[in-house]
Amino acid sequence: MIIAIDGPAASGKGTLARRLARRYGLIYLDTGALYRAVATLLLNDGADLSDAEAAVAATARITPAFLEDSSLRTAEAGRAASVVAAMPPVRTALFDYQRSVATTPPGAVLDGRDIGTVICPDAEVKLFVTADLTTRAERRYHELMANGMDTSRDIVLKDLAERDQRDAQRAEAPLVAAEDAYLLDTSNLDIEAAFQAACAHVDAATGIN
Ligand code: C5P
Repeated sequence: MIIAIDGPAASGKGTLARRLARRYGLIYLDTGALYRAVATLLLNDGADLSDAEAAVAATARITPAFLEDSSLRTAEAGRAASVVAAMPPVRTALFDYQRSVATTPPGAVLDGRDIGTVICPDAEVKLFVTADLTTRAERRYHELMANGMDTSRDIVLKDLAERDQRDAQRAEAPLVAAEDAYLLDTSNLDIEAAFQAACAHVDAATGIN
């Protein structure tokens, strides 16, 4: 079974995806970490973020351990990720890995921006998780502060708004809900309520339980 989860930054999709993977016994892949890894490797090399050739070469240097590196979780890495993610050759270079994780038994939960539309249009379950911008900014602000990063609410909000715009307006694989995705707005839901709503949808869509 494949569960495809898309949505804007800080919508709660990562937490939800991780919990769904545990609940249904599936592998979890945070696809945003792949783009964050490419961007961070370029930043570390002092390379230009618009250098498509260097970015494609960087995809071959991603290791599972690096995907867990805390340097990927900064606001700068998120911003840089959305720049490299707009380059079609980078997306192509990361396609096969994402497909292979998704199609290896017992299946997987993938979260990102183009999972239900491009990577796994064949997913049994598609969720589009969203929340209003101020709610997402507040969540991301607390997350960054809890991780010891110094920032302000205004900076976080501006950053997310810019990233939303870049992700939604790029020509290749823009952030958009698949036609058959179930829309889950978490603006007024805590993690538990969002998880219960998502499980109810997965169960109904797959006939489990
Ligand atoms: O999900 P996360 O915020 O970690 O993603 C970082 C950036 O990577 C996004 O803003 C987006 O530009 C890009 N991304 C993407 N496609 C995905 C996952 C992430 O373009 N499937």
